[in-house]
Parts: sequence; C-alpha cells; structure tokens
Amino acid sequence: MKNTRPRVFSGIQPTSEMHFGNYFGAIKNWVELQEKYECIYSVVDYHAMTMPYIPGELQSNTMNMVIDLMACGVDPEKCVLFIQSLVPEHTELTWILSCYTSYGELQRMTQFKDKSESEKVQEKGNIVSTGLFTYPILQAADILIYKAEYVPVGKDQEQHLELSRNIANRFNGRHEIYFKEPRVLLTEVPKLLSLADPAKKMSKSLGDQHVVRLFEPEASIRKKVKSAVTDIGPKTDTMSPGVANLFELLKACGKMDEHKALMEDYNAGLLKYSALKENVANGLVDLSKQFIDRKAALTESNRDIEEQVHAMSDKARAIAKETIREVRDLVGLPVRRH
Ligand code: TRP
Repeated sequence: MKNTRPRVFSGIQPTSEMHFGNYFGAIKNWVELQEKYECIYSVVDYHAMTMPYIPGELQSNTMNMVIDLMACGVDPEKCVLFIQSLVPEHTELTWILSCYTSYGELQRMTQFKDKSESEKVQEKGNIVSTGLFTYPILQAADILIYKAEYVPVGKDQEQHLELSRNIANRFNGRHEIYFKEPRVLLTEVPKLLSLADPAKKMSKSLGDQHVVRLFEPEASIRKKVKSAVTDIGPKTDTMSPGVANLFELLKACGKMDEHKALMEDYNAGLLKYSALKENVANGLVDLSKQFIDRKAALTESNRDIEEQVHAMSDKARAIAKETIREVRDLVGLPVRRH
C-alpha cells in the first residue's frame, strides 16, 4: 500500500553527545511525529563540516548520534533514519539549487552572520568558508529532495525554511510545479536555558557545564542541577529565569504532580530551592536511566547497527535518486543511465 501520510523531514547535526536541550527541544517531538507522519530523519554530517571541526571525530560522532537517536525512541521500523553524506545526491541537488539562489538572499541569513562572527570561526587558522555561506542551500536540498511537506524545526531555523520555500518557488516558476513548498511544523517545545547561566540557551557550544548530557553519570547530573543558578541580585516579584527554567525542566520530565506541589509552595513563598533541584535531578536521572538501558540493549543485541544504518540510507537514496533524475531532466542535464 502506498504511504499516504504527509511527509516530514528533519535533520540534526552530529555532536559528541546529545543533551537534554536537544532532547526536549527536538528529538522528543521527532519520536511523537513518527506515529502520524511519514518521517525521514537525517544526521547531517555534511552540515557539520561548515564549522571548524576535528575530522577524526566526525565519523564516530555521526554514528553515535544515530544510536543516540534510536535510544531516544526514533524507530527504524517507523521512519527512515539515515546519514546525510551516504546520500551524495544531496550535494548534487545543492549545486543545482545554488543556481536558483541569489547571493543577496544568502547574505541576509542571520545564522550565517552569527556563525561567521563567532569566536571559533574567527580563531587564527580558521576561515569563513563558502560552505558556511551556502549551508542553507544544502538544507533546502535535504528537504526538497524528499518533497517533504513539513519540517519540524525551532524558531532559529525559520529563516532557512523561508529560503527553502523561495528556492522551490523560483524553481517551480522557471520549470513546472515540481517541488512541494515545505512548511515549518511548529510545536510547543520548552525553551531550556543553561543551568550555569540562565541568561543563555542550553547549548553545547557554551561548554559542558551549560548542558546536561543524556548519558551523563548520575552523580554528575545531580551535581550540575544542585549548582544551578537560581536567584541573582535582589529578590523581585517575578520568578527569576533560573528558577523558571528548573520548573520548565520538571514539567519536561513529566513530573506534573511534583511541578504542581512545588509551584504551590512557590506561590505561598515556601519553596526551598533545594527541594526543587532534588526533584529536577530525579526527573533527569530517571530519563537518563531509560536512555542508558535502551542504548545498552541496542548496542548489545544489534552488533550490525552500522549495517542497519547503511540499509536505511540506501532507502533514502532510492528516493533521492528518483528526484535527481527528474530534476536533471527539467534543468536540461543528461539523464544518467544508473
Ligand atoms: N540546520 C539545522 C540545524 O542546525 C539542521 C538541518 C540540516 C535541518 N538540514 C535540515 C533541519 C533539514 C531541518 C531540515 O538545526
């Protein structure tokens, strides 16, 4: 039977280890979407090359990310989960689409501005690469090559999605209606802040003390939560960002009863931060244990996990090849025999 569910595409960059900001902000949602949509998910290793990185670590980070996603519940029985660079057609489409993207459009991308000015890129010996500049075209190719209708991403990616739609439109205008215009699938996700500095987002690039990793040892999780910043400066009437973030985390962990009780304490002026922290730590540790167990089961029972990833990437590649065949024909390139 042909799959008639709307198609979803999303991608995540490989990092050394997933953290709870990634999980609650995106991956938990990926897992839920598998039930209602035809989902194609990718670990985008080509994208990871646009910032300074260590070549010796990319391969293992990429494979690790696939396994971490599976440990979180992204299920190869329900979706296609593949490694971007194993489907080289993404880069071929990127080239073609780059001829449908204006230089000015790329210059307006705020993420490019931010990343090109970042400390890491500005460090001696590094460059602002053309890859970083054309990154959004690769992202458009990721989505359009599968003719995905919906793309679950955070607010920070909305501009890239708008560009993807503009590219699709321009292409369709010059040829025929071929690409689907992808739409952002916005879902309510908690915005988690760094425990060490609640003025900032929970993000790996700030350093390890700013994130709680999914597979972090229990003692270390508890220590980080215990030392989370709560109130700084004089007491005010509104809840401080650090405390609000801890409540947000508690909710994200599904500890609703605890959330309610502690919120009542807060409103009555009776809340002990140590109690709030203890509950948050318990929530994170409970989840972490689940992930650790699933990861252990995966790596134990399925020594052929790499084989499985390659097989899934072949599945994605079959779809991508078909798109490339049609696109080459439309833009006037010879259609390949294989
Ligand atoms: N740019 C996205 C990010 O940093 C990752 C990504 C790459 C992506 N290709 C994609 C997301 C396609 C959605 C669809 O989060």
